[in-house]
Amino acid sequence: MRGARKAAIVGGGVIGGGWAARFLLNGWDVAVFDPDPEAERKIGEVLANARRSLPSLYDRALPPEGRLSFHDDLAEAVTDTHWVQESVPERLDLKHAVHADLTRFAPEMAVIGSSTSGFKPSDLAREGASVIVAHPFNPVYLLPLVELVGAADHRARASAILREVGMFPLNIRHEIDAHIADRLLEAVWRESLWLVQDDVATTQEIDEAIRMGFGLRWAQMGLFETYRIAGGEAGMAHFMAQFGPALRWPWTKLTDVPDLTQELVDQIAAQSDAQSGHMSIRELERLRDDNLVGILRTLKRSQSGAGATITAHEAALPAPLTVRRRVPQSWADAQGRVSEAQVLRLAAQAQDRLRQVVGCDVAGGVADWGLAARETALCHTHGLSAGDNVSVDTHVVRADGIDLRLRHRIAKDDGTLCATVESGLVHVDLATGAPCFPPQAVAARLRQMAGVPAVPPDAPSTGQRPG
Ligand SMILES: NC(=O)c1ccc[n+]([C@@H]2O[C@H](COP(=O)([O-])OP(=O)(O)OC[C@H]3O[C@@H](n4cnc5c(N)ncnc54)[C@H](O)[C@@H]3O)[C@@H](O)[C@H]2O)c1
Repeated sequence: MRGARKAAIVGGGVIGGGWAARFLLNGWDVAVFDPDPEAERKIGEVLANARRSLPSLYDRALPPEGRLSFHDDLAEAVTDTHWVQESVPERLDLKHAVHADLTRFAPEMAVIGSSTSGFKPSDLAREGASVIVAHPFNPVYLLPLVELVGAADHRARASAILREVGMFPLNIRHEIDAHIADRLLEAVWRESLWLVQDDVATTQEIDEAIRMGFGLRWAQMGLFETYRIAGGEAGMAHFMAQFGPALRWPWTKLTDVPDLTQELVDQIAAQSDAQSGHMSIRELERLRDDNLVGILRTLKRSQSGAGATITAHEAALPAPLTVRRRVPQSWADAQGRVSEAQVLRLAAQAQDRLRQVVGCDVAGGVADWGLAARETALCHTHGLSAGDNVSVDTHVVRADGIDLRLRHRIAKDDGTLCATVESGLVHVDLATGAPCFPPQAVAARLRQMAGVPAVPPDAPSTGQRPG
């Protein structure tokens, strides 16, 4: 993959920086064009956050990072690109000028996406530009959603690429101002401004109302599935009959816009400072990212919402016998140190990988064969910290009858040996849970890995109990 694909990021602020990180960490080369002299520093900070969070979503290593370059010349930046992502400020005149240049300089094969939160493709293409809306969510390197609006053939090409970098393209069939998600968000935002303006609630109270309750539900079931459950056994129709009439009551002020007077802006800014001013924006971002990784990994376990997208992406990543991964933040204590229990977890993952590889090598998999641990010995030689990139090499020490002995060597990318874990295992019949001889093909593969060349002709057959 490396060197084969290139993305150009035009406008490298909050969103452009996130796009750059998403492509880079998925092995793409990235060229940035942004006239801001601070762009390189800002993107560097976004990338640092992405490197400490995105790999933690996966139990396999992401591809080697692509090359990052910065350019003063737009034409140079977009040369040979497969994807151009425009993320300049939300001003239509500026977007028109940028897309006129992109139409001239970008290769015909390239998808040209705009991150615009509100403009329609027809607004952007007024000057004849060939552009679709590819609207992402902050942080772009962690959140999978991209709303795609525009010509169907361009959306199809864009969808394939977005899936390749672990994202979820939501194809929007009709172009409307602000697409789907920002319409929903604007309704909540507008109502929240009224609640502050009318002195009903502070910024903190509104945030508590979201994060202590319905915000938790939305990440995993969205709105309609959540309300389906709220209808009880009678379901959605009952829910609508019960709460439908309330829609006519004047609960909300959605059609009115509060005046953003200096007084209201100052009030909100002061309340926000009181609520969150004790942390810098970068600290808040890291807190957000760590929480998102935890939530996404839980969703991955249940295959809910964004969890299924991560699983699909992970399945497409290469799966070597050596397990490589980044130590996630969630494994560390308050000082950033990783406990012995988590080191054993690394070894368990490597063992699971070996079981899959050996099982799958044999005629497409072996039913009812598994491994159970008898004893495990950990030798800790060097501490691990959150964020370390580690590889776990698994060696078959002995494969003998029903017994298997493995040694896992856990080392950092710079070669520092951190731990060895030696485990004694026994082959089991998963149907009965009883120890058994492994299937012959499994035994052959394990003996080969242990450096024992020949399989004895009288080796016991699959599932046979030891005498
Ligand atoms: N901030 C969000 O949460 C968010 C979410 C989704 C989409 N968006 C959309 O993404 C786009 C960018 O928003 P942002 O929040 O990243 O803004 P930003 O102000 O953080 O970044 C904009 C960047 O564009 C650069 N720029 C200005 N003129 C340029 C030009 N002619 N060529 C190249 N670069 C130029 C600026 O120097 C700046 O670095 C907007 O269209 C916005 O609606 C924002």
